[in-house]
Amino acid sequence: VGQSLVKLSSVNSTNTYLKNQLSNSTPPAEGTVIMADHQFAGRGQQGNSWDSEAGKNLTFSILFFPDFLKISQQFLLNIAVSLGINDCLARIIGKQCKIKWPNDIYYQEQKLGGILIENGLSGANLKWSIVGIGLNVNQQNFNGNNGRASSISKILHQNYELPELLGQLCKDIERRYLQLKAGNQELLKAEYQERLFGLNQKRYFKVANQQVEGEILGVDNDGCLLLSQNGKLAKYALKEIAFIF
Ligand code: BTN
Repeated sequence: VGQSLVKLSSVNSTNTYLKNQLSNSTPPAEGTVIMADHQFAGRGQQGNSWDSEAGKNLTFSILFFPDFLKISQQFLLNIAVSLGINDCLARIIGKQCKIKWPNDIYYQEQKLGGILIENGLSGANLKWSIVGIGLNVNQQNFNGNNGRASSISKILHQNYELPELLGQLCKDIERRYLQLKAGNQELLKAEYQERLFGLNQKRYFKVANQQVEGEILGVDNDGCLLLSQNGKLAKYALKEIAFIF
């Protein structure tokens, strides 16, 4: 990952840019990374936008060809990538870094980054995956996030070199991707679960416009969130449930 690295000063979205490259006569190689100093139409999960101050943070996309994964196993790629990022941040910041289901990057109760994965399919398997990562590194001011967003520099009180951090992240993500490719799914699932934000804690959620309380038990093979609600096991897909803080 990152052997081939394209740096753009400004682009709509590195995910969109990389997706457009797939139709080239010579498509980019697996592991290609596209990064941008500034995205003017950065995209987040569930149709949200991703805003990031120009030149301060990492916004990049990685191309994978995970044709060894069935469509029904696609959550495993979320797991591998979130773990790779978490490995890196745990070294830099510490064990307080968690993965908030499905794949947000958290420090204590604050979001440091997010992942947007877009897949192309071939039959019952994945053909390509574009893994977009936005990580708040040196940004100091976050408006309109209800105090729920932070950056590495706000936590460590020092700025971090972006190219150096990108290099580390690429290595960590590659290591986890190779574990996945080698078939170490159980290990990856167990480690993801261990690092899950709010694990074994009671949290509030919004389900069908109602506030509900549930204890986070983990995630199932389809990537659904498992909760214990009034002593009963409940499972929710991403579109069905949202955290309330
Ligand atoms: C989320 O938390 O909702 C996911 C955010 C993903 C943002 C990254 S930044 C690089 C890549 N390009 C995009 O347009 N989005 C992803």
